Amino acid sequence: MSTLLSPYDTKVIAIDGPSASGKGTIAARIASILNRDYLDSGALYRLTALFAKQRKIDWANEEQIAQLAATLPVIFIGGKILLNDLDVTHTIRSEEVGLNASKIAAYPLVRAALLQRQRDFLTTKGLVADGRDMASVVFPNAELKIFLTASAQVRAKRRALQLDLAINGEEFKQILVDIEKRDAADRTRAVAPLQPVADAHILDTSSLNIDESVQKILDWYQIIKK
Ligand code: CDP
Repeated sequence: MSTLLSPYDTKVIAIDGPSASGKGTIAARIASILNRDYLDSGALYRLTALFAKQRKIDWANEEQIAQLAATLPVIFIGGKILLNDLDVTHTIRSEEVGLNASKIAAYPLVRAALLQRQRDFLTTKGLVADGRDMASVVFPNAELKIFLTASAQVRAKRRALQLDLAINGEEFKQILVDIEKRDAADRTRAVAPLQPVADAHILDTSSLNIDESVQKILDWYQIIKK
């Protein structure tokens, strides 16, 4: 399998961070402001998990799941995600798919199968990529590397708001438990664990809104462009 970096592989802003840290919204916003493409790498792990479940593959069968990852029949079109021609844009966002994605993301063969697919999103236009290992593995030469953090409590509140849930009920508690479980799995896995690279800018968004977070990253971008 080829895992070539492109000749313009520095033209990437890599944004990594834990679940519900705001990466997706922030990365998409920055891509639009800078007129770059946007890669939601988590969607590829989620799609692989959903596809494996649809095909009733045993979760322990790393090789078969990696094979599915390598041949995902996915199309990203007009903000929609089609898997085998079916619109799964919303289906892949469930917490269940997220937990399964986290499970299969720990498999080295799955990560290897998705590596080139992620790099292929980069064109001369440049890219803003969000995930867990954008700076450490997929785009190590990225011109700007951001690591977003926020407390688990704040992130659970954001997710509850997104889902229109009260922030003191049982469902909220479950969201917090799921977030902490997925964080622990992502941080402690042997391959590509979630952690900031040495040259990452750390941005704690606990007390920042989306606009403020976007502005902070654009400020760093202006500094490196000077
Ligand atoms: O939306 P959220 O931040 O909760 O998750 P996501 O970015 O869609 O990623 C879902 C899962 O895929 C994560 O919990 C990770 O285990 C895995 N993932 C990964 O391992 N590497 C990436 N570059 C992106 C996601």
